[in-house]
Amino acid sequence: MGSPTLVLGIETSCDETAAAVVTEQGAVLSSVVSSQAALHATYGGVVPEIASRRHLELVAPVVRRALEEAETTLDQVDRVAVTQGPGLVGALLVGLSAAKGIAWAGRLPLVPVDHLEGHVASLYLGPEPLEPPFLCLLASGGHTLLLAVRERGRSERLGTTLDDAAGEAFDKGARLLGLGYPGGAEIDRVAEEGDRAAFPFPVARVPGLDFSFSGLKTALLYAVRELGEDEARRRHSDLAASYQHALVRALTSRLREGAAQTGLERLAVVGGVSANSSLRAALPDVHFAPLDLCTDNAAMIASAARYVQPLPYPSYLGLDAYASAA
Ligand code: KG4
Ligand code: ZN
Repeated sequence: MGSPTLVLGIETSCDETAAAVVTEQGAVLSSVVSSQAALHATYGGVVPEIASRRHLELVAPVVRRALEEAETTLDQVDRVAVTQGPGLVGALLVGLSAAKGIAWAGRLPLVPVDHLEGHVASLYLGPEPLEPPFLCLLASGGHTLLLAVRERGRSERLGTTLDDAAGEAFDKGARLLGLGYPGGAEIDRVAEEGDRAAFPFPVARVPGLDFSFSGLKTALLYAVRELGEDEARRRHSDLAASYQHALVRALTSRLREGAAQTGLERLAVVGGVSANSSLRAALPDVHFAPLDLCTDNAAMIASAARYVQPLPYPSYLGLDAYASAA
């Protein structure tokens, strides 16, 4: 039996420096994620310049560790996959340059991957990969999309957010409540002790299958102001639980409406927000990736690369990153 085809994935679109080794069949041999969250926490959000510089320091050791944990070497790697966009351009360029260098040195093909396709492809990794067709909610820090996925590597956009992304709404809500960064996980944790019915926060009604979260954020701001600083602090778990409940209601109702409209029976949620415990509990019949594949990682990038045409050596040296989704 020959050795399996190996894809080395690299992801540096935001504040996670990640590398992974995945087989062509979708087995994750290693997935290393070095989070810079603590570094950015003092500033209450990601500082792009600091992120780029930290990626530069971390990318080589993270790739080395991914190879070690997969018990392989660069000589065994068949293809290098890397996030091309969307994301912070300075951060993306560090991963892209590293990937080009590694691929060029080994005369390997390079596969540029769209970060959003990467999140969807987190569902195609073992041991229980999901098969299209399915309806997919992608909820991350930068995007909220409802996608009809008819085949691997191809999806049709049915809805998007008109203002903030769902993860952004979690992060901004956390900041209003004086919770730490990153905010989604903090709200999730604090909400556990709160009463989700304490504050009746509204869910925006927008036409079609789009989303809107800015009104909800404003409602939280007013509630905090009305309570006053001390009382808001005393009740922050009730506020967090009620706010989270409104976000979860908005996401689940759109997913159900999308399912009814498209007739797609299998449903999935991907992206950082899919790590939310209340969302997962509200959707027991829906497919979620394992927790470590919900937030940014490189295994999903290597997974997505399996459905993208590789660029042959050395045609990719001039390849550029892109900041926004196409
Ligand atoms: O996919 P991701 O890691 O990065 C982007 O592509 O943006 O998503 C990050 C987002 C952040 O907004 C973060 O607050 C949110 O995912 N997030 C969560 C949870 N864990 C991460 N939101 C709600 N509950 C969580 N447990
Ligand atoms: Zn992401």
